[in-house]
Amino acid sequence: MIRRLLIFLFFFSYHFLYAQKFTELALTPPMGWNSWNCFECDVHEQLIREIADAMIASGMKDAGYEYIVIDDCWQVDRDKDGFIVADPQRFPSGIKALADYVHDKGLKFGLYSCAGQMTCAKRPGSRGHEFQDAIMYARWGVDYLKYDWCNTEGQTAQESYSLMRDALYATGRPVVFSLCEWGLNKPWEWAAGVGHLWRTTGDIRNNWDIPDAKEGKVWAGGVIINLDMQQGLEKYAGPGHWNDPDMLQVGNGVLTESENRAHFSLWCMLAAPLMAGNDLRTMTPAVRDLLTNREVIAVNQDSLGKQGYKIRDDGEFEIFYKLLSGRNLAICLFNRHDTEFKVTIDWKTLQIKETCRIRDLWKHEYCGDTGRNFTVTIPAHDVIMLKLEKAE
Ligand code: GLA
Repeated sequence: MIRRLLIFLFFFSYHFLYAQKFTELALTPPMGWNSWNCFECDVHEQLIREIADAMIASGMKDAGYEYIVIDDCWQVDRDKDGFIVADPQRFPSGIKALADYVHDKGLKFGLYSCAGQMTCAKRPGSRGHEFQDAIMYARWGVDYLKYDWCNTEGQTAQESYSLMRDALYATGRPVVFSLCEWGLNKPWEWAAGVGHLWRTTGDIRNNWDIPDAKEGKVWAGGVIINLDMQQGLEKYAGPGHWNDPDMLQVGNGVLTESENRAHFSLWCMLAAPLMAGNDLRTMTPAVRDLLTNREVIAVNQDSLGKQGYKIRDDGEFEIFYKLLSGRNLAICLFNRHDTEFKVTIDWKTLQIKETCRIRDLWKHEYCGDTGRNFTVTIPAHDVIMLKLEKAE
C-alpha cells in the first residue's frame, strides 16, 4: 500500500514539477534568423559567426532580432553513451564555443532537432534521447529549439512534443520551444501549453504563389499560399503561443521588392514569428531597410499579442486588421493583382467610426485622418500598411 502511494506520489510530483513549458518566454513573437531557407544543409561555424556579426552590423539586432538558429544538418551521430554529436568538420570548435560567441554578441542561440528517429535530412533525431538531448542543449547554452516531425511513424504529435517540452523544462534552462509538425495535427488546438510557436503549414517556398501539391491537396507553397492558410487561426495565438506560417523568404532573391514588402508586412500583421531566412552578410540595403522597419516591426511586437486577420476579401484586393495596444489599429491594404490597383476606403464600412490619425508605416508619415475617405494606388503584389491612432 505504502509502496503504491510512494509510486503515485513520485509520478504526481514529477508531473506537477515538469509537465509544463517555460511560461515567461516569447511574450511577443520571437524574432531572429534561421539557416534553412538560404543555406539548407550547408551550415558551419564560420557561417554562423559571420551571421551573428552581420546581425549586429546591419542593425537587425537593434531592430529586435535576437535568436540565431541553426536548422538541420549540424548533427552527425551519437556517441557510445547516446549523446548527440555535432559535425566535427563543420563545427570543429564545438557547439558550446559557437553558442558562447553568439551570446557574447548579446544574441541568443538556437538549434534544431526532430521528434522522429531521424531528422528530415536523415541526421539523428531525438526519439528515445529526449532527456539526453535536452541536457546537452542546456550544457551548450541553447535558448531556442525547433523540433521537426519527420520519420515519426507510429508516434502521436501531442505526446512526442509534450515529452520534449518536459525534457527541456527538467533541465531548468529556459528554451523557446518551436513546434514544426506543419499543422498536420492542428497544434493550435493543443500546443499552447506545449510550445511557444507552432508551424501551421508545410515549408514555405521561395516564390510568391506556387502551391506544393501533396496527396491531392495544397500542403504549402509560396508566400500567399501560406498566408491564405492562416485565416481562422487568429483566435489561437497570444503572448507566449503563436501560429507560425514559416520563416521569411524576404531577400532570398526571387520575390520582387513589392513582394518582399507585402510578405514582411503581412507576417507582421499575423503576429507571426519573424525569423529572417536570408544571407544577412550580403543583403542589399533595400532588403535591410525592409527587415528593420521599426514601425512595421512594432505592429508585430505589439504587447497586446493579437493576431491580425482579413476583414475584407474582394478577390484580388484584401484588407487585414490587427488590434494594437492603446486602442490603436493596424490596417494592411493588400493588392494581389498583377497590376497596380487604385482603391478608395470608406472607413465607416470597416466599422471605424472614431476619427483616427492615419500613419503610413512604410512612408513614415502621417497622411490625414479617418474622417474622410482614403484613396491610394497600390503597386502589384504590394501593400499599404497603416496605423490608425485613436485620440486618447
Ligand atoms: C522540414 C522543416 C523545414 C526544415 C527542414 C530541415 O522540412 O519543415 O523547416 O527544418 O525540415 O530538414
